[in-house]
Amino acid sequence: MTSDSSTQGRRTPDVLWNSRFLKACRREPTDVTPVWLMRQAGRYMSEYRSLRSKVSFLELCKTPELAAETTIFAAETLGVDAAILFADILLILEPLGFDLEFSKGEGPVIHNPIGEPADVARMEPLTDVSALGYVYEAVRLIRAGLPSVMPLIGFAGAPFTLACYAIEGGGSRHYVKAKTFMYRHPAAWDALMTILTDSTARYLNAQVAAGAQAVQLFDSWVGSIGPDEYRRFVQPHMKRLFAQIEPGVATLHFGTDTGSLLELQRDAGGMVIGLDWRVELDRAWDLLGPGVGVQGNLDPIALFAPLDEIAGQTRRILKQAAGRPGHIFNLGHGILPHTPVDHVRALVQMVHEFSVK
Ligand code: CP3
Repeated sequence: MTSDSSTQGRRTPDVLWNSRFLKACRREPTDVTPVWLMRQAGRYMSEYRSLRSKVSFLELCKTPELAAETTIFAAETLGVDAAILFADILLILEPLGFDLEFSKGEGPVIHNPIGEPADVARMEPLTDVSALGYVYEAVRLIRAGLPSVMPLIGFAGAPFTLACYAIEGGGSRHYVKAKTFMYRHPAAWDALMTILTDSTARYLNAQVAAGAQAVQLFDSWVGSIGPDEYRRFVQPHMKRLFAQIEPGVATLHFGTDTGSLLELQRDAGGMVIGLDWRVELDRAWDLLGPGVGVQGNLDPIALFAPLDEIAGQTRRILKQAAGRPGHIFNLGHGILPHTPVDHVRALVQMVHEFSVK
């Protein structure tokens, strides 16, 4: 096995360890820039919509054979360099005691959100992660069904983003309830973040044990707070979370609207930092320094534009990365419903074609 002496390093077969994607996570040079896309399996694909006309979203997540098929189909159709587990960041909230529903048109709803500190006092960290056994079974099936050269990314929601859902009871524009709870009840907030952190670390390590080579933490809504709040209310937990991930596993740290948080996120952990389209990739990477890779940062809405606009933006991003090892091409956030599939496929080809060394 190559350079790494850790457990996971030894467990990862050479063909995977030397894949473009994992090399880029380790900031090693690659033949072309690796690319995968957040939400690469989803409603923009007619095959996905047809599957969803027969089963609900939660049933799909909880049926390992279907989840595996969804992951593998998307990765192979698009020709990307990594597959991502089909699941959702909110699944972990169920075994933590939350009543989760994905209602049509409204997105996720939690029917018993946290309202006061006593609700947190009643919670317990997930010591036995087997309640999410269907996820690990999906990971096993995906690993077995994927080409042996294609890495599989496991994932979880980061504690702040999960806390937002657990307190708001669903999506939100300003996170008034979650942030008010954080300011008003700092001790209960800390207890909640600790429970989410420890549970998430165990959950991710179980995904790794089942066959994931990399893990991404989605801190999708962390851009709603500023640097001082990040330092006080989030960063210590993120540091502890990354420190608990099995050594040798590639770690990706994603958020949106994080222009003012990037250095703090880097210091919290992750081999690769996600960048959305609101920042310039070159300036952001200069700020982060050479010790981390970056992932991003095409605007998902650019995929609705004509192909020459997509090509121009792709070339610009690759030019900003300037061939530095450690760039993983991705969108700045997930693919949206109604995105033209042929544009997504074309994007993947362009990244490979334009980045040939
Ligand atoms: O990237 C992938 O292809 C893997 C699967 C994946 C899903 N959700 C499937 C999904 C991943 C990685 C996620 C992460 C996720 N889920 C995040 C973080 C990323 C981000 O977008 O910021 C968040 C915030 C969620 C929570 C969530 N799940 C929301 C807000 C919604 C509703 C909005 C929407 O897009 O429908 C979901 C549902 C969801 N998760 C769908 C899919 C394919 C659509 C469900 C359907 O089929 O109707």
